[in-house]
Amino acid sequence: MSDHISIIEMGPRDGLQNEKTPVSVAARIAFVEALVAAGLTTVEVGAFVSPKAIPQMVGSDQVLRGVSHLKGEFHVLVPNEKGYDAARAAGAEVVSVFAAASEGFSRANINCSVAESIERFKPVLARAKADGVRVRGYISCVLGCPFDGEIKPKAVADLARTLWDLGCYEISLGDTIGVGTPHKAKQMLRAVAAEVPIASLAMHFHDTYGQALANLYAGMEEGVRVIDSAAGGLGGCPYAPGATGNVATEDVVYMLEGMGVRTGVDMEKLLAATNEVAGLLGRPPVSRVASALNAKKRRSS
Ligand code: HMG
Ligand code: MG
Repeated sequence: MSDHISIIEMGPRDGLQNEKTPVSVAARIAFVEALVAAGLTTVEVGAFVSPKAIPQMVGSDQVLRGVSHLKGEFHVLVPNEKGYDAARAAGAEVVSVFAAASEGFSRANINCSVAESIERFKPVLARAKADGVRVRGYISCVLGCPFDGEIKPKAVADLARTLWDLGCYEISLGDTIGVGTPHKAKQMLRAVAAEVPIASLAMHFHDTYGQALANLYAGMEEGVRVIDSAAGGLGGCPYAPGATGNVATEDVVYMLEGMGVRTGVDMEKLLAATNEVAGLLGRPPVSRVASALNAKKRRSS
């Protein structure tokens, strides 16, 4: 198994996009600063999507500009050329397009079929190539869809191939509703790895059913080296009924460091970042490791 795993921090985007409590632009910038200080140098910081669809991501241009002084790589979601224009105007150098392995989720999330979404992405990818902008490609519902149920690994693999052929440098495979289990995750990853180099795959697993760490471990056994996670286990998608947060960055870091895998993340600083946001949201983090470390602190104080 690899001795290095890259973590892509999702807290400021996936983490906050479904929160009822508004989080100010200043607080979102401070969150990114705290994450970078903790060693999480690749962070998804916002989304250039419809403000009616996701009001929580309004101000992503200000967030992106507000973190430009930091040493790190900052990603943003763009669903179409309009989003790409806005992201570029705010200085984006890495953007992510997002598709789904199921028609039901594609329709609910981005109001078009899977094939139509690819047509929307084509000009984005062509312009990004000309502009020297890197594009990451997400696929949602790789292990199950809230509308269409079971998803065949081949459907994921074919879509991954399409995004790869269009020029995405990495394909992030989303278990959007956290229903996957390790053997299914392996089957899906093997099918995708037959189409896209495994070094260019990332795992984006939500932890709804408590399976995310087991699925990540299974994926690491297959050779995947990139993990998307969110501080405190924040996250969820308003268009995925029942979905809860991403796998928590603290839980991933604890597991990896315990296995001797370097992450470059300072757990104390990460916990501080998580606790700060939890304070703003008015509830403790759901992360098991953050809860355990916070309890330990309380016992020793
Ligand atoms: P649409 O209604 O089909 O688009 O929405 P449209 O082109 O007909 O435009 C409708 C309105 O949206 C217009 O405004 C446009 O100007 C505006 P109006 O005239 O009504 O005032 N609009 C935009 N505004 C800002 N930025 C844009 C943009 N595009 C159009 N880029 C659309 C299609 C994709 C825009 C919409 O459905 C949308 O924004 N969806 C966002 C969904 C979303 O952000 N979901 C969460 C992120 S995905 C996720 O969480 C999964 C992931 O984490 C992986 C996983 O876990 O699986 C990545
Ligand atoms: Mg997600």
